[in-house]
Amino acid sequence: MSPGKRWASTTIFVFFFVIGFVYWIDKSVITDANFFRTIATTISPKKSPAHVEFPLNCSNLNLTITCPTIHPGTINKKEESSPVACPAYTRWIHEDLQPWKSTGITRDMVERGRVHANFRLVIVKGKAYVEKYSEAFQTRDVFTIWGILQLLRLYPGKIPDLELMFWCGDSTRIKKRDHQGLKAKSVPPLFHYCNDDESLDIVFPDWTFWGWPELDIKPWRTTLVALKEGNKRIKWKDRKPYAFWKGNPYVSKKREELLKCNVPNKNDWNVRLYIQDWIKESKQGFKNSKLEEQCTHRYKIYIEGWTWSVSEKYILACNSMTLLVNPQYHDFFTRSLVPMQHYWPINITNNICRDLKLAVEWGNNHTDKAQKIGEAGSKFIQENLKMDFVYDYMFHLLSEYAKLLKFEPTIPPGAHEACSETMACLMDDKLWKIKKFMVESMVKTPRDALPCTMPPPL
Ligand SMILES: *[C@@H]1O[C@H](CO)[C@@H](O)[C@H](O)[C@H]1NC(C)=O
Ligand SMILES: *[C@@H]1O[C@H](CO)[C@@H](O)[C@H](O)[C@H]1NC(C)=O
Ligand SMILES: *[C@@H]1O[C@H](CO)[C@@H](O)[C@H](O)[C@H]1NC(C)=O
Ligand SMILES: *[C@@H]1O[C@H](CO)[C@@H](O)[C@H](O)[C@H]1NC(C)=O
Repeated sequence: MSPGKRWASTTIFVFFFVIGFVYWIDKSVITDANFFRTIATTISPKKSPAHVEFPLNCSNLNLTITCPTIHPGTINKKEESSPVACPAYTRWIHEDLQPWKSTGITRDMVERGRVHANFRLVIVKGKAYVEKYSEAFQTRDVFTIWGILQLLRLYPGKIPDLELMFWCGDSTRIKKRDHQGLKAKSVPPLFHYCNDDESLDIVFPDWTFWGWPELDIKPWRTTLVALKEGNKRIKWKDRKPYAFWKGNPYVSKKREELLKCNVPNKNDWNVRLYIQDWIKESKQGFKNSKLEEQCTHRYKIYIEGWTWSVSEKYILACNSMTLLVNPQYHDFFTRSLVPMQHYWPINITNNICRDLKLAVEWGNNHTDKAQKIGEAGSKFIQENLKMDFVYDYMFHLLSEYAKLLKFEPTIPPGAHEACSETMACLMDDKLWKIKKFMVESMVKTPRDALPCTMPPPL
């Protein structure tokens, strides 16, 4: 595409952006180490960058042509480091990329991941391209891609060129046992939402950080505030002195096991378990499933579903003491949770009903201590899992991953360019909720600060 054509087809705000970045590229790439300040001042020399907004503007966009060019596509090699340290869980990026530390990542390795992937994501010169391979469940893939696009808006030009394969399902795909001996040298790098001690999937934040419209779970930034407010409604000591769980029990043996503790007439195990009927809930407008209204008990149970469960962050953020049934899977942040500090561990291989009952009894005997554990869990989520750090985790993971690539990422013939406009503007009226969540979770302004500083490997 000729530059002239592209210019003709972009909106005024994009025009503004392009001018800004052309100017910026000329001026700063070579000389100025302070990348972020340069962007900010170039975009708006007078206003503080926090006030520069680039909202979604669908009005004059010719979507048959191309996405707006808002990214300069140049990476500044010289970097200062941020005084803000990343949360401890960021350290696990080193661990997740360990299989490729000595070999690097070849094109062949990436291609081997294709059989597992729902889509391939390519970033070239700050623009994102998606090649779709198979349907993902609901809108998991849509909101995952959306999240990556927002990262590109947050740190324009800072995300290096890369190619990656992404799997949006529940189960882990890259098993350690299949990649031993000689095969350990050709592990396909596959991005996914969780892994466990038996698998090598690369852990990436799940789609719920940008929203889960099918279940009316709003973008995380909004939800985090709602949970904080919701926690003020009932003080810990006024909450029901039982352990609460609500969910779908039919997705795992563990959950079916848990449900056996629900025999209030015979034996009170101090638990209050409810089966979540999402179909009924959706018909009733989700009025009984608001997360911030589920912080009514002193204790909340977390138990895995098929693999990891996105519910963990909502449960931990309740100020109630979390009774965490020992998990097999981790998502990106759970690996730095500390038992007895952030949660009370429950061992499923023991007598789960008895152990839950004892934990609740202990908490009711030692209310101050139980309350403290509950609050520490919430604080962990509120502080370490705010969206800024989620984006920084993604930033560091993608940057470290890109460093390992031994080939030049190219735009595959079957790929289409993805940007916030092509995704959100094209939603028709039936998909209003998807669009609403997208607009709500959209990054409207580049960040005027460096990403947090990553901790060194263990
Ligand atoms: C969106 O773009 C159109 C056409 O360029 C412009 O007239 C309008 O003011 C823009 N709206 C916003 C909210 O920026
Ligand atoms: C978009 O651009 C294409 C190609 O230049 C052109 O054929 C089409 O008429 C344009 N559509 C609108 C709505 O401007
Ligand atoms: C759970 O209990 C079993 C049997 O008592 C024990 O072997 C195992 O190590 C325990 N697991 C954890 C995570 O404490
Ligand atoms: C809680 O206190 C009661 C009454 O003092 C005692 O019988 C029970 O063993 C205690 N339970 C736990 C788990 O601390």
